[in-house]
Amino acid sequence: MKTRILQIDPLNLKPEILEEAVFILRRGGLVAFPTETVYGLGGDTFKVESIKKIYKTKGRPIDNPLIVHISSLDEVDKVVKEIPDMAYKLMEIFFPGPLTLILPRKEDVPPEVSAFLPTVAVRMPAHPVALTLIKLLNSPIAAPSANKSSRVSPVTASHVYEELKGEIDLILDGGKTPLGLESTVVDLTKKLPFILRPGVISLEELREFIPSIEEINYLDSSDLLEKPLSPGMKYKHYSPKIPLILFTGSIPNLWQEIQKEKIEREDKGERVGLLLTEEGFNYLGKPKDIAIMGSINNPMEVASRLYLTLRDLEKEFTAILVEGLEEKGVGRAIMNRLKKASCKIIKV
Ligand code: TXA
Ligand code: MG
Repeated sequence: MKTRILQIDPLNLKPEILEEAVFILRRGGLVAFPTETVYGLGGDTFKVESIKKIYKTKGRPIDNPLIVHISSLDEVDKVVKEIPDMAYKLMEIFFPGPLTLILPRKEDVPPEVSAFLPTVAVRMPAHPVALTLIKLLNSPIAAPSANKSSRVSPVTASHVYEELKGEIDLILDGGKTPLGLESTVVDLTKKLPFILRPGVISLEELREFIPSIEEINYLDSSDLLEKPLSPGMKYKHYSPKIPLILFTGSIPNLWQEIQKEKIEREDKGERVGLLLTEEGFNYLGKPKDIAIMGSINNPMEVASRLYLTLRDLEKEFTAILVEGLEEKGVGRAIMNRLKKASCKIIKV
């Protein structure tokens, strides 16, 4: 199969390009498309053959469910059985946006979409290409991130192409995705609401509306590893192709330790890339072999650049040393991805 890439300007949508994508989706094909978070690998939610294709193409374990993307609040009823009051409240505030809600699944939704769970993940992306595509198809689009399973999520069309070329029909190239990190996943089907995956919509922000919400810290809980609440939790995720070593602790010690580790590893013949904040970069006297993820004071910028910089570094080096950020607000989501991607965490 030849994978085509069609450019599409999110601010000036060309209907003929979207019609082409809809035609493919109607035939049961797969289309990668931009959202405000990362690129998704989309198929028609109600076509079981498309859903099976998504799992096969990604190499995704069959027990890891997909997110269903909708374009209007009316569509929630197509996929959700009962909508709790709390869901209405969150949808009103955050849809469209980088928030995914886990809700009871309607029987009409093929169980394969949800890996045979009685629940379904629903999200309304805040991106003109994604929204218009769903509207034109007139059916919710099931889509995981458009990468091979366990790899870093794609934030550009070329990231998608590198991994999925020859395996999908079409990539809609709408440029770099603005937010750069996957959506916050909130489960509303248990006694208490909780965050399964942190994202740009932070715990602090959600607590303003749902004071009782908690975040699952699955990395520190062996119980959860045995029986994960979100199937996605038990798999290795977001990994670059080379070892990533994460440094946590207070600055400037953190920066000094990174520099020390770099020298030690280079003495052994490794090619070491650094992923630093602007502040770290300046503190260390503007070293070579680095990618700058943004300023400590601007975690949104760091989130947006994170996967880009990881993909750049893995092309050139044999190991990456990463400066950890403070775990508050968006920093929590950034650190969640970095912890999952790392083979070692060094606390200084
Ligand atoms: O920003 C995003 O969410 C992107 C864009 C494309 O929308 N999508 C994305 O999908 O990151 P994916 O498949 O890479 O991650 C979905 C996460 C997984 O961790 C999965 O286990 C969890 O959501 N999930 C999906 N359905 C679920 C369900 N019914 N119950 C619990 N967790 C669920
Ligand atoms: Mg993913």
